[in-house]
Amino acid sequence: MNPCFCVIFLLRLSFATAVNFTQVFAWNEWAFERPSKAIKTQAQRQESFNQENIQPRYMAVYGSRIFLSLQKFDDIPETLVSLRTSSASTSSPKLSPFPSLAMNKWKDCNKIQAAKGLEVDAIGRLWVLDDGSDSCNAKLWTIHLANNDHTKLSVRFPFKKPMHDLVLEETPDGTFAYISMMGERNIVVFSLEKSQCWIVDTPGVHVLSIALSPREEPRQLYLGKSKSNELYSISVAALRNGTRTANPKLIGKWTANNSYRMLMDNRGTMYTAFLSPNYIQSWNSSQPFQEQRFFEVGRQIAIWPFTFALDSSGNFWMTVFHYKADKPKCRLLRAAVGVKPYYITDSTTKGVSTVTTNCTSCIKGGSVAGKRQTDESTNYALIGSVALFLVLSFIISPWLCLRMRNMRNSNEQETEMPTFPNPVSPEMVHEEIENDLYGVVTAPPPRPWL
Ligand SMILES: *[C@@H]1O[C@H](CO)[C@@H](O)[C@H](O)[C@H]1NC(C)=O
Ligand SMILES: *[C@@H]1O[C@H](CO)[C@@H](O)[C@H](O)[C@H]1NC(C)=O
Ligand SMILES: *[C@@H]1O[C@H](CO)[C@@H](O)[C@H](O)[C@H]1NC(C)=O
Ligand SMILES: *[C@@H]1O[C@H](CO)[C@@H](O)[C@H](O)[C@H]1NC(C)=O
Ligand SMILES: *[C@@H]1O[C@H](CO)[C@@H](O)[C@H](O)[C@H]1NC(C)=O
Repeated sequence: MNPCFCVIFLLRLSFATAVNFTQVFAWNEWAFERPSKAIKTQAQRQESFNQENIQPRYMAVYGSRIFLSLQKFDDIPETLVSLRTSSASTSSPKLSPFPSLAMNKWKDCNKIQAAKGLEVDAIGRLWVLDDGSDSCNAKLWTIHLANNDHTKLSVRFPFKKPMHDLVLEETPDGTFAYISMMGERNIVVFSLEKSQCWIVDTPGVHVLSIALSPREEPRQLYLGKSKSNELYSISVAALRNGTRTANPKLIGKWTANNSYRMLMDNRGTMYTAFLSPNYIQSWNSSQPFQEQRFFEVGRQIAIWPFTFALDSSGNFWMTVFHYKADKPKCRLLRAAVGVKPYYITDSTTKGVSTVTTNCTSCIKGGSVAGKRQTDESTNYALIGSVALFLVLSFIISPWLCLRMRNMRNSNEQETEMPTFPNPVSPEMVHEEIENDLYGVVTAPPPRPWL
């Protein structure tokens, strides 16, 4: 091996892991805070859930509170939970149903049924995208964190579709939410003040992840294409103007397919995680597309390994989730990165709507074909920590070079695997998209979440 290449590779690795993450919590068992006695008994009855089924999927952070959407399983009452980062202990944190256990109710169309994408806006409202259920349409909630967690149903969409993620744009003309669904060839735009929503086609791009550039114009909405490694952008000005067809522009190609989470900071760096790969990539959008390694764990640990969000004090928060076997099962990490979320601005938004709308203008396309679920597991052992890499990276020797090259090769092989080698866990329920993604054909079941 060329020694120069080896040195460059090691330097890149050091750079890639140069962000210092601190472990805030680590836990093996999920523990829930259950509020009152009466509810407690009811909840305890339901508490025979399989610990394996609890999976964090989306995250938001506000002050010392972290919010997590949990993958919806029948036996787990909570779909949206909060935890305090100020706890003295660093072991298992208690998760509180949010805003309350009563508001987390699977069979009730007027409650939070299956929380998905989460965002906090500049005035301290948590926006919660809600899949709804078999018999209830998708919804969007706002919970005013700075105002006693006052909870409001902002819109009931006129469809049942698997929702995915959202970003918010606060403009002098009002607040817009741009929403992605699981692999639909369009996005939903919701105007809070006008109480209107509409579908915008994205020809050629089945959208999965979504991110918004910082406030500088021309503002871009980024779209991560489902089952592909392609990253696209569309003009936000055109969206605000009410266009019904956007023309996505190809920006670049990641090394991995299925970017499920994209996040931009207020200096224009994008962070993204992919279904399966064990790393988070970043790209400085002020420069031509080029990805860098932002964070990495030793091996594949889950299909949905990370959730992450930035807080307004410049911290990058992240959960690292191991689907099986490995301990700790979940870790909450924090790094002071000194950048803020894309939505941090000096101006404040006025004229907050208090009306709940039934959005009737955005019905389009057929019904959602539900699919059953696939496996979520793969190889679990962690080989070597990032710290070990860093130490080793200073001992440049032929042996190390060889080892690094071998590891790199084996990583490449792993990411090229189209399917997961391990068997399907039968009790697991999964996102329809993941089924799509891994090409598992199952009999058409009535609903994806049953
Ligand atoms: C990370 O932490 C180590 C030890 O505390 C410190 O020496 C190093 O400078 C830190 N690196 C960064 C990028 O903050
Ligand atoms: C949006 O509309 C405004 C005013 O009607 C116009 O000036 C602007 O060029 C439009 N922008 C786009 C991208 O269509
Ligand atoms: C991103 O690129 C711009 C332009 O090259 C540069 O000024 C800026 O410092 C870069 N940001 C980061 C975080 O490296
Ligand atoms: C909105 O839809 C709900 C449920 O379908 C219905 O009960 C309610 O009356 C509707 N509200 C308006 C303003 O149409
Ligand atoms: C990404 O998806 C494409 C198209 O489905 C496939 O050909 C390619 O092998 C995938 N790449 C990886 C790294 O999985």
